[in-house]
Amino acid sequence: MASGANKGNIRQAGTNLPIRVLMVCLGNICRSPTAHGVLARLVAEAGLSHAIEVDSAGTADFHLGKSPDPRSTAAAAKRGYDLQSLVARQVTSRDLVDFDYVIAMDTENLGVVINLQAEAEAASTKVGLLLSFSGGDRVNVPDPYYSGEEGFEEVLDLVEDSCKALLDEIIATHDITY
Ligand code: 4NP
Repeated sequence: MASGANKGNIRQAGTNLPIRVLMVCLGNICRSPTAHGVLARLVAEAGLSHAIEVDSAGTADFHLGKSPDPRSTAAAAKRGYDLQSLVARQVTSRDLVDFDYVIAMDTENLGVVINLQAEAEAASTKVGLLLSFSGGDRVNVPDPYYSGEEGFEEVLDLVEDSCKALLDEIIATHDITY
């Protein structure tokens, strides 16, 4: 993670508030909705929907109010993820206060998130790159917008792998029990 609080509970301690995770990309129609859908399903499968909430947003305003890109929805549906109810929105500095983890899909969007974090003076929010949670050498989830179908499959491969590791880290960090 690029910055954040000490390891340990941020807001779970002494409260029943869920841990909140925001996935961020550029348009909020391809990568971050995919990460949103994947992490939400992992959380549900772990029986932790009461303890961990997931959302997504974009740093740009190109696609506000739109559903995910149909190519993302179709690729995700083939693996059993339903992205159809998601609606694009833009990340705000308030999100850096409201969420415990703000996870960017690439370094460019991480830069925007870090600036919003400074603006919000939300030093305890954990901010970082999604792929920092996976063991591989990759840094960025590549933007599939101008790619073919294989780009969307690659996004899913990277996101599935890293979301499992992210969930493990959240569970361990916050001592979340089932
Ligand atoms: P995303 O992909 O950031 O993964 O949602 C993109 C979506 C739209 C555009 C670029 C990237 N665009 O230029 O409209």
